[in-house]
Amino acid sequence: MSGREFDGLGPLDVHVWVVRLDAPDRQRRHELARSAQREVIGGYLGLAPATVALTRQASGKPVLADGALQFNLSHSGAVALVAVSRELPVGVDVQEPHAAPTRSWFAKRICSPREYERVGALADPKALMRLWVRKEAVIKARGEGSYVSVDGVDVLDDQVEGGWLCQDLPIALPGYQAAVVTRDVPRVTITVRDF
Ligand SMILES: CC(C)(COP(=O)(O)OP(=O)(O)OC[C@H]1O[C@@H](n2cnc3c(N)ncnc32)[C@H](O)[C@@H]1OP(=O)(O)O)[C@@H](O)C(=O)NCCC(=O)NCCS
Repeated sequence: MSGREFDGLGPLDVHVWVVRLDAPDRQRRHELARSAQREVIGGYLGLAPATVALTRQASGKPVLADGALQFNLSHSGAVALVAVSRELPVGVDVQEPHAAPTRSWFAKRICSPREYERVGALADPKALMRLWVRKEAVIKARGEGSYVSVDGVDVLDDQVEGGWLCQDLPIALPGYQAAVVTRDVPRVTITVRDF
């Protein structure tokens, strides 16, 4: 028993579990992230983690074979996030400090015209990284893959075209940024929990 409480997930709730990946090597951190994902999903469904039946959509997005829960995983550096919802599609993204947002090409590559006008031209790496994780979270919520042009996804506002809601997530590590995306429906509630 982990002692973690996987409860209170109503139909309009999204829970985001913040998992610290305490391991020196990348492969082990990835294993820990996947194992936490199984534990979280199994916890809500009352299943042993090893029996959680994961499969993948054509885009690569993992889903449950029976659709009993919506979920999404992201891992970067020392942090993984597992977002879960009963029925609302979810996408989550976390990014450790990265050099790309400091590069001159980055803003042009990822920004929509409106984002470039407001943020891109300032060349502020923190603001650009925030846009980056928000875009990845939208793409992951929609279940799309690497064929998507990120400059076509405008995430300046929390209300994102197509009926999505984007929210920044607090990560207590310097330079990390994260975001979660779900359906923009009335009374949706996003809660962050420590794993
Ligand atoms: C698929 C993609 C969204 C994964 O994002 P990432 O930042 O590389 O990695 P994350 O740790 O956030 O997410 C990985 C997890 O997402 C999940 N995932 C994989 N494909 C997915 C998809 N199509 N949709 C949603 N989730 C997906 C898996 O659980 C995966 O875990 P795994 O590594 O154990 O298999 C990303 O590779 C991608 O294709 N992005 C497209 C947009 C782009 O080009 N961005 C770059 C510049 S902004």
